[in-house]
Amino acid sequence: MRQSSLLLSLLFLWTAGIKGQSLIPSPLTYQPLTGSHPLERTYRIEPESKAVWRDAKAAGWDLLQHSPLTGRRGHTPVRSKARGIISLAAYVDDPRPEAYALRITPDTLWVQANTGAGWRHALTTLQWLADEGRNAIPCVSIEDAPALAWRGVMLDVSRHFYPVSTLYNVIDWLARYKMNRLHLHLTDAAGWRMEIKRYPLLTKQAAWRDAALWKTWWNGSRAYAHEGDSAAYGGYYTQNELRLLVKYASQRGVTIVPEIEMPAHSEEVTAAYPFLSCTHDPKGQADFCPGNDSTFTFLEHVLDEVMEVFPSADIHVGGDEAGKAAWPTCPRCTQRVKDEALPSVEALQGYLIRRVADYARRAGNRRIVAWDEVLDDSLAQDVQVMVWRDTSAVRKAIARGHDVILAPGAFCYLDAYQDDPSAGPEANGAYRPLSRVYAYRPLSALSPDERQHVRGIQGCLWTEYVPTTADVERMLLPRMMAIAENGWTGGETKNFAHFRQRAEAETNRLRAQGVNAFNLSAEIGDRAAARQTVEHKARGAKVIYHRPYSNTYAAGGDSALTDGRRGGWDYGTGTAWQGFISRGRLDVTLDLGAVTDVNRVALDFLQTAGPEIYLPAHFSIAAQDDDGRETMLFTHSEAEVRHTLPSVETLEWRGHVRTRFLHVRATNGPLGGWIFTDEIVVE
Ligand code: ACM
Ligand code: ZN
Repeated sequence: MRQSSLLLSLLFLWTAGIKGQSLIPSPLTYQPLTGSHPLERTYRIEPESKAVWRDAKAAGWDLLQHSPLTGRRGHTPVRSKARGIISLAAYVDDPRPEAYALRITPDTLWVQANTGAGWRHALTTLQWLADEGRNAIPCVSIEDAPALAWRGVMLDVSRHFYPVSTLYNVIDWLARYKMNRLHLHLTDAAGWRMEIKRYPLLTKQAAWRDAALWKTWWNGSRAYAHEGDSAAYGGYYTQNELRLLVKYASQRGVTIVPEIEMPAHSEEVTAAYPFLSCTHDPKGQADFCPGNDSTFTFLEHVLDEVMEVFPSADIHVGGDEAGKAAWPTCPRCTQRVKDEALPSVEALQGYLIRRVADYARRAGNRRIVAWDEVLDDSLAQDVQVMVWRDTSAVRKAIARGHDVILAPGAFCYLDAYQDDPSAGPEANGAYRPLSRVYAYRPLSALSPDERQHVRGIQGCLWTEYVPTTADVERMLLPRMMAIAENGWTGGETKNFAHFRQRAEAETNRLRAQGVNAFNLSAEIGDRAAARQTVEHKARGAKVIYHRPYSNTYAAGGDSALTDGRRGGWDYGTGTAWQGFISRGRLDVTLDLGAVTDVNRVALDFLQTAGPEIYLPAHFSIAAQDDDGRETMLFTHSEAEVRHTLPSVETLEWRGHVRTRFLHVRATNGPLGGWIFTDEIVVE
């Protein structure tokens, strides 16, 4: 080993020690003490009071009376003769509900907590340290508590259906990373997944479709099938299965939050019960009819059974992406607008959510959660807003008195690629590696008062491109660890290098156990070209836009195409990719400032079919003189192809010309969509 890398390793070990070994999430304080604690001890437990013992026992501390810390498979414990002591006490220094303190000395484990959650977190930390110790745990003092109360993962079980065993595994990981919410997206066009006894067609029909892969089905028939049909794909969880799951989760400190979509994303329901849509057409009706009282009868009956199975204080009612297409011409809907004196037919969405929220409050003493579209309407303050589209909704929601759960797609949607897309398999459009998820600072830009309204943070795994349990494992792990740590620490101070080391060790541990976690050790990373700026003759040159770029994908504005910055696999707001949607047209003149010898002009174009970003169908480069006369240098046309995976293609001219102006045009073909480019490179 070279001396410098030896020094680096020592430095790393030192900082790792200070920051909390391999633990995910990293504890608030981690203070090494001298000595070590043998793993093979059994314990005498000394609780401070009966109340402390009741809570600690319920969290699993009693197990250490009978077995040493080495409960690992394949390990034969050599019990030491000396019995250790576990001292349990209330945590009077820290009244925060999930706080705990753990002091490991050679003979004694001193533990303090105030709630079941605190006792469980302490045990989880101890077991983690024991798992990585060989014969002993280095002595340490830890004081720890989470910044945010809701630390969750959403799993979409509609787009693809997973056996209930998958959900048990997800709960185990949530508990290991000290997370406490599993939000199940139980209903969507692709399939209804919860047994509702009152409406049997939801599981006999709406839970089944005629193609297994979501993409095939969505781009094809969008037809439903029947339970028992030989080619039917789908499934559902029985209420009994869900009750057992809820209990298992609860024992691990995890609350399952069910989501029933309304008023939109409900094609599967209106196919089974066509009277619930405005048109009564059994095909293609995403929205319920809010003009029809039968809709509310249905939703209330469904919620009755949902609330009976799920004791969660919070019930998610969707509320996103309503098309509302049939409402304006529906006589029941227009009558409702009149009767309720609503400002517009769109406001029927707010009417529906208000009515359902009232019902959940009255019938079950529950609060509802809904996606951030509900901010378009005035709602009771106890409605909690799950922010997914854009973080500006956070302050808007808080200003109106709502609590928010943060799940902004740009950081928290775990359905995007986590590595070079060409490494496959297909995912949903964007590039969102572990570093990106970890980079989110959920509390930044919020005042102390505003922070009081942030309930938590959540990673969302939409599963259009996640057909199997193995894919769920690969997409969640390790990225849910970054969500866990941001929720636990608040994400204000962080050290990605240290987190990545811990996440890599953890994914390797999981992989050794047969879990299909993403192989972080083999990560390729962002597009190589994007890692450094490019020098060329047009750096800093003026670009004249004959058609505007999109304000959303401005990439820095007028200088974006000559600033030397290259785009990576991520095309989102703030990246170096500039987007053109104005009839799919890029039309710019580059002013080199003076007549220049030009030997090459090259543009990179991004293509990613999901968000409809395509390579140009027609592309040209012309030299232009001072009077605007053009000499065509290069034209290129191609039949538009939908590549499966995102890719970048270079279109370039090579030759020789002396010119001050270059006119670059790109248009797309019949598919429409976007054109994205990052730089006009001139050599
Ligand atoms: C959503 O992604 N439609 C909440
Ligand atoms: Zn209607």
